[in-house]
Amino acid sequence: MGRKKLLLTIVISGFLLVVLSVGVIEFTSQPRFCYNCHEMGELYNAWEQGKHQDVSCLKCHAEPGVAGLVRTKAKGLREVYVHFTNPQIEPEEKADTWEFSQRCLVCHDDIQAPGGPHNAKHFEMEFVCVKCHSGVAHDPEYESPSAEVCAQCHGK
Ligand code: HEC
Ligand code: HEC
Ligand code: HEC
Ligand code: HEC
Ligand code: HEC
Repeated sequence: MGRKKLLLTIVISGFLLVVLSVGVIEFTSQPRFCYNCHEMGELYNAWEQGKHQDVSCLKCHAEPGVAGLVRTKAKGLREVYVHFTNPQIEPEEKADTWEFSQRCLVCHDDIQAPGGPHNAKHFEMEFVCVKCHSGVAHDPEYESPSAEVCAQCHGK
């Protein structure tokens, strides 16, 4: 092979590799792909019927940024391994953190308002979203939180 031809081959292979990787990341990021394994729970169906049906799984479940996406994909590989070695496992997301709540705020950045449930004091306390909105994406019975939630701490 001449030098030029070799160079061309390397460039083309490199290009194909990038296209392929982007393709794989795209494919494995589709909610349909997740459905392959999480179909047993009500998770997918409730998501599909809920208000977040147009919000893809990874908007909430991937760590932010490119490094986050890489970590999420690495975790995905582990999920495949666990899926086949430990089929009884019940997946659990640690959503009750302020860090996770930041993902919600990417879209709901306009909720903060004085006097209501999203007041500045609650934000200072890092009062996490799912403490009041538990099941918002995955519970078919999900309802907007009622005043009972507030009574836990504020009395009547
Ligand atoms: C090959 C089967 C499989 C596929 C495909 C799959 N998962 Fe999972 N998932 C699992 C298993 C098994 C676990 C439990 C892992 C554990 O507990 O170690 C899990 C755990 C989870 C958790 C709980 C949090 C965690 O980190 O353990 C979330 C959230 C999750 N998966 C979301 C997704 C999303 C979103 C997709 C699609 C992009 C997806 N999964 C695709 C098998 C799969
Ligand atoms: C990618 C954008 C996006 C993200 C991320 C997101 N949401 Fe939403 N959310 C929406 C959209 C769009 C709707 C539907 C609005 C409508 O139909 O009026 C919605 C609706 C809601 C509703 C009303 C649901 C109902 O059934 O009445 C609540 C509560 C909510 N989101 C909370 C959250 C929480 C908590 C998180 C994080 C766990 C989150 N959202 C993450 C876009 C997002
Ligand atoms: C202290 C409890 C509490 C916390 C914490 C909380 N919310 Fe809410 N949220 C509510 C209540 C109650 C309503 C209904 C308000 C109303 O009807 O005016 C609501 C309404 C909403 C709505 C409008 C849709 C709807 O159901 O009416 C969105 C979107 C929302 N919250 C997102 C969030 C996000 C994102 C976070 C985290 C940053 C969060 N909330 C934290 C109690 C809470
Ligand atoms: C709007 C944000 C949001 C979207 C979109 C979303 N989820 Fe979730 N998911 C959550 C939250 C919050 C939890 C924590 C449990 C709860 O509060 O319902 C969770 C929990 C989970 C769990 C662990 C089960 C558990 O009870 O902890 C898995 C697995 C999961 N989601 C997969 C998915 C898949 C697959 C999709 C897409 C089909 C998806 N999620 C879409 C917010 C979301
Ligand atoms: C887990 C306990 C807890 C729950 C549940 C809770 N709050 Fe709070 N809330 C607090 C604390 C603590 C403060 C800060 C009090 C202070 O500094 O005086 C606060 C502050 C507030 C404030 C601001 C007062 C100010 O001085 O600005 C409002 C308004 C409020 N809460 C409304 C609500 C509403 C509405 C709900 C139900 C949707 C709710 N809270 C649920 C603990 C809670």
